[in-house]
Amino acid sequence: MNIFDTHAHYDDASYDGDRDQVIEAVRAAGVKHFVNISADLASLKGTLNILDKYPESYGTLGIHPSEVRDLDESVMEEIAEKTRNNDRIVAIGEIGLDYWDEGPDKESQAFWFRRQLDLARELGKPVVIHSRDAVQDTYDILSEKHAEDMGGVIHCFSASAEMAKLYVKKGYFIGIGGVVTFKNAKTLREVTECVPLENIVLETDCPYLAPVPFRGKRNHSGNLTLVAEKIAEIKGISAEKVCSATYENALKLYRLK
Ligand code: NI
Repeated sequence: MNIFDTHAHYDDASYDGDRDQVIEAVRAAGVKHFVNISADLASLKGTLNILDKYPESYGTLGIHPSEVRDLDESVMEEIAEKTRNNDRIVAIGEIGLDYWDEGPDKESQAFWFRRQLDLARELGKPVVIHSRDAVQDTYDILSEKHAEDMGGVIHCFSASAEMAKLYVKKGYFIGIGGVVTFKNAKTLREVTECVPLENIVLETDCPYLAPVPFRGKRNHSGNLTLVAEKIAEIKGISAEKVCSATYENALKLYRLK
């Protein structure tokens, strides 16, 4: 089976003790590629280190909405320069809005979301979108900026089936991970049912969001077989079909062919 993890954080400190062994196990589980996603200043460097070490990896550069407090224009220049100088940087992200906890104020989140959407357009890259408790504002800013021109993925999708349909109509991919296996994830299972397979990509968000029965433990891309099985069950198709289709979708999302 070929598996493509479209969203991982292997630069996270929780892998510092055994990163090579984890990646070995991930390879053995059939994961052919993974994309290491930047979220804060340290992970801009951390992602480049991952690319140097693991030839099957790709990366994204961008600043997560919870991390925009001390951001300035020099960081945008750094992202632009690093993206231009490394063809394995495949997208700008993760960027977006997060109203879930006491993060930076909404105005500065929106400012840096828009700024990084502009940056993606300048660089000609797709976007990886993080949206938590900010469904309508995320959709509105993406629409205002016509981000569908760049294309991208709504990572860890957590909105309604109706909202998923609006994104699909604009050509976005919907990222589905371990949450789909959680007992209380009724809405995400509805989303999974109604979104066409051609618009779904697999993602772990590891080290977070491990699927059942590993919920709460450190996650890794090898666990995507469990996510693929759940999607297969919901859609009434085989897990092999889910893996091969989402693999092709990931290549399309990140323009790897
Ligand atoms: Ni993430």
